[in-house]
Amino acid sequence: MLIRELKLLNFRNYRTLNLSFTPHVNIFVGLNAQGKTNILEAVYLLAMGRSFRAAKDSDMITHDQEHSLVSGQVTTEATHTLELILRRNGPKQFRFNKKELPHSRFVGVFNVVLFTPDDLYLIKGSPAERRRFLDWEISQVNAGYRSLLLDYYKVLQHRNSLLKTIAFENQDPRMLEVWNQQLVELGSRLMAVRADMIHKLGILSRLMHRQISDGKEELALRYVPFFAGGEQGVSFDYQSIKDRFVEALASARAAEFRRGYSLVGPHRDDFQFLIDGLDVKVFGSQGQQRTAILACRLAELEYMKSETGSYPTILLDDVTSELDEERKYLLLKLLTKKIQTVITTTDISDFMPDVTEGAAVFQVSAGQIQERR
Ligand SMILES: Nc1ncnc2c1ncn2[C@@H]1O[C@H](COP(=O)(O)OP(=O)(O)OP(=O)(O)O)[C@@H](O)[C@H]1O
Ligand SMILES: [Mg+2]
Repeated sequence: MLIRELKLLNFRNYRTLNLSFTPHVNIFVGLNAQGKTNILEAVYLLAMGRSFRAAKDSDMITHDQEHSLVSGQVTTEATHTLELILRRNGPKQFRFNKKELPHSRFVGVFNVVLFTPDDLYLIKGSPAERRRFLDWEISQVNAGYRSLLLDYYKVLQHRNSLLKTIAFENQDPRMLEVWNQQLVELGSRLMAVRADMIHKLGILSRLMHRQISDGKEELALRYVPFFAGGEQGVSFDYQSIKDRFVEALASARAAEFRRGYSLVGPHRDDFQFLIDGLDVKVFGSQGQQRTAILACRLAELEYMKSETGSYPTILLDDVTSELDEERKYLLLKLLTKKIQTVITTTDISDFMPDVTEGAAVFQVSAGQIQERR
């Protein structure tokens, strides 16, 4: 999987831009605030249909403009054109080979894995942020999961409005039954996919972690479904999830009627990083947390390869500034051989010659890009 070309119109500090990427290493060099991360953001948009950092889509439109166009040529088994149009007043639009698509079908044509200095949120952040991580990573490789997710949240919303009327307007609670069934059905399927993904990603993360931490420590990922309450050794196949869900729903019934919203379901799931069995969020040092996340990101590459048949494009935003020499070396050595990589940096001397050799190097300066020869 590759991105070949990127075209921007009125995107962030780029008025117009036409770029060609190499299938190997692409390095964007420049001082602060010149537009390096903006390039990664545009490439990421083509994969995910949303930004990894903009609070609002309209933040990405050049200040004095009304709309942006981000367009890319990507090669999967064939070459396709992906386009995204952002409007200051109106919904964004997605196109695949000139044909309009809904967001949920745009995602997944072209895949990326992003490494950023902010990645610590995966450990330090809230369960909601970890759920978003799971949902987006799985969505990239599993179209069935994307629609399951949409359906689940629709049911959750309906159920919540009904619960509100039961709690505060004395609506008949029997009407909830049909929503309960759907919540359990869709929710359990969703959770079975999450459990499977975390299991696979956990195995791969452990292997990656061994390579970047001298094999002295053992990394594991643990799914913490909403009903688990810290217990170990629960099996997470569809049927056992469903049984537990039904149980949890029954015991939450009275409280839900009182409070007027859904208290149980995968919208309350979480997962943990464990090193030698201990929660890295609670007991890990900063360095251990960074290493765990690095291992998890590297594992994502292999996970996506195994799910889709090809490696995603790697986006590395300024990560070398956050890593010590040894980890930087190991990361770059692992990455830059077989996979298309897009790197931003303020300092190209951060990279060993075997990374920069044969790489396309782009100088970024105030929304203008020059390829260095
Ligand atoms: N909507 C927008 N319209 C115009 N310019 C914008 C917009 N959003 C951001 N910018 C500009 O883009 C630049 C920041 O770009 P970017 O985040 O890519 O910088 P960077 O090169 O990655 O810097 P750093 O090395 O500090 O990370 C800033 O000059 C900012 O003013
Ligand atoms: Mg940046």
